[in-house]
Amino acid sequence: MSESAAPHALDLAAFPADFTWGTATSAYQIEGAVAEDGRAPSIWDTFSHTPGRVDNDDHGDVACDHYHRWPEDIVLMKELGTDGYRMSVAWPRVLPGGDGPVNPAGLDFYDRLVDGLLAAGITPSVTLYHWDLPQALQDRGGWTRRDTAEHLAAYASVVAERLGDRVTRWATLNEPLCSGWIGHLEGRMAPGLTDLTAAVRASYHLLLAHGLAVQAVRAAAPGARIGLVTNHSTVEPATARPEDAAAAVRLDGHTNRWWLDPVYGRGFPADMRELYGVELPERPGDLEVMASPTDWHGLNYYFPSVVVDDPDGPVPYAREVKVPGVPRSGMDWPVDAAGLEGMLMRLTDDYGVRRIYVTENGSAYPDTVAPDGSVHDPERTRYLEDHLAACARALRKGAPLAGYYAWSLLDNFEWAYGYDKRFGLVHVDYATQKRTMKSSGRRYAEIIRAHRNAVSAAVGAARPGA
Ligand code: IFM
Repeated sequence: MSESAAPHALDLAAFPADFTWGTATSAYQIEGAVAEDGRAPSIWDTFSHTPGRVDNDDHGDVACDHYHRWPEDIVLMKELGTDGYRMSVAWPRVLPGGDGPVNPAGLDFYDRLVDGLLAAGITPSVTLYHWDLPQALQDRGGWTRRDTAEHLAAYASVVAERLGDRVTRWATLNEPLCSGWIGHLEGRMAPGLTDLTAAVRASYHLLLAHGLAVQAVRAAAPGARIGLVTNHSTVEPATARPEDAAAAVRLDGHTNRWWLDPVYGRGFPADMRELYGVELPERPGDLEVMASPTDWHGLNYYFPSVVVDDPDGPVPYAREVKVPGVPRSGMDWPVDAAGLEGMLMRLTDDYGVRRIYVTENGSAYPDTVAPDGSVHDPERTRYLEDHLAACARALRKGAPLAGYYAWSLLDNFEWAYGYDKRFGLVHVDYATQKRTMKSSGRRYAEIIRAHRNAVSAAVGAARPGA
């Protein structure tokens, strides 16, 4: 047992026998090979190559070179003992112009990868859009235009037609909040706009794209199980002041309700519509499309939010405050696993979700490689254990949690933060591309093994005559 096992013994019996233990990545963050085999630029190629947009002017040109090293990376998944892998397909590899001709070489790459995963006994979970919009579509207005949603659905059909005989677990979008709010309102992500009208329109078209893609994937791959992946934080006021309570409601609307209510048939929250004051590009039938029935929901959880009123700040006029005594990760994000339990219960109780995956959860810390080549990361290990304990508590309370994908398999390109922020269970030396399992990865493997052993023991005990 590792040194961290004793104080954090996990309630493994809470996890169902068929629980998926996985890791997650996304295309632009790991693949590299940005100009190979017909791939065209995405908005992230443009953004990261614009001086000053990304720390150290880092970009994804090579990243983890996963495009060439994927067999080695599957070996790492096996070493972890995971049976699930959440990956994304790069739209600009498959349809370099966003619409128009398909690039067969792009599809071939994912075909090989999916076959490699299945041969290793790992179930792929494929996200269609993890932020890498083809630049050609951005040049025509990107997510502020309705037809981008239609193009996403057409692209989804192409991918599902090719992979749908082997891939059953599909996600339409990853974290539309980041595309919508961070990309179009805060300007910290591609395409780097700071325009509320553009952001609200983009958010609408992203949710429409989700619904259209659900329908497209179902039509192309009848066995598909499809969901949306959204990122959330629990939101609490820092004080008992009514202004802070109202700020918490606003941030909750901005972060949580705006992205969940339309998908679960409630339409867009009226208080937020009023706050944004932007006319939605609504057409009859759109809300029904956005609320197309799904098979599961993907929750990405990293941190909770505690806020005060900030009348002079940006929309939604709520400022996050640091709570004394709450540790912070290398991202300067508060570390508190109670928020994961809270969000799992909210999806279960308030939104009636019947199957949930934690599709991302993890932490960045400034890792160092010891002289013997090892990477010891006790803080990340502790984060993992505490958040799995939160999953166990939610399961005990009835959350229909079916799997957990740790973010991330590998250290990778952390968007505007470049390569300095490391989220991997596996360390990547970018100069040599050497992969080293961190102690958090070994701990995850140990937990997965312990769960499997407990399941086998229970099956053995239940066998007649045992
Ligand atoms: O790296 C990102 C990922 O692409 C989306 N969710 C959050 C992660 C950590 O910031």
